[in-house]
Amino acid sequence: MAQPKYKRILLKLSGEALAGEKKTGLDIPTVTTICKSVKKCIDAGVQVGIVVGGGNFWRGRTSENMDRVTADHIGMLATTMNALAVGDVLKELGCDVRVQSAIAMNAICEPYIREKAMRHFEKGRVVIFGCGTGNPFFSTDSAASLRAAEINAEIVLKATMVDGVYDKDPLKFDDAVKYETLRHKDILVNGLRVLDGTAAAMCIENNIPLIVFDLHRPDNIYDAVMGEKVGTLVSNQS
Ligand code: GTP
Repeated sequence: MAQPKYKRILLKLSGEALAGEKKTGLDIPTVTTICKSVKKCIDAGVQVGIVVGGGNFWRGRTSENMDRVTADHIGMLATTMNALAVGDVLKELGCDVRVQSAIAMNAICEPYIREKAMRHFEKGRVVIFGCGTGNPFFSTDSAASLRAAEINAEIVLKATMVDGVYDKDPLKFDDAVKYETLRHKDILVNGLRVLDGTAAAMCIENNIPLIVFDLHRPDNIYDAVMGEKVGTLVSNQS
């Protein structure tokens, strides 16, 4: 049987990807399809941590007057709703799952404790990290790179709605070219909208590679873990 390329990964799922055709909220059949690919990774012996975005429930401030910190708190709660939903579907599929939240909400899930998360991984459990970093002004991409650094993940798999990184918007330009590989610092220098600057800086500092790929084909998660070429590989290597 083929061996996975990575032993421990951090999977970043965009909130939008969980909404499927509905574009908002949760589409459980879509979530189930995504989770089946995660289950295949677990069955292959890979340790999986997940950070979920919240864009299917909340897209930031509703008005210029809305306090940024309040808006980010709402966003964090949205990520936790997604974390619980993904966790529930994974459990249905037979995975052992623990949801940990960066902001304590003990009646609902475990608090984030790094050492406990590591024990869960050793026992083959999926750990889903809710509430982003637990701080306003940080994106869930930053949460993904932070948790990846903390749990010593070998790679961040950023599963999103686009099939990689392009030199310009492929929806607007027919001649947009997809990068096969890219350096993290190019994201910063060229202002490519793959990761925000904080998340990219975390990946650079901690030498964490990232694969950006789309979830229109959910098995991309499994294929990436097995080392097959999907999306765009972003790393410190030139
Ligand atoms: P081991 O220590 O390896 O046995 O891990 P475990 O997660 O099975 O043990 P633990 O006794 O910590 O947790 C048992 C169950 O309670 C699991 O489903 C946990 O997710 C859950 N749990 C643990 N701590 C909390 C908490 O603070 N809040 C909530 N809501 N659930 C928790």
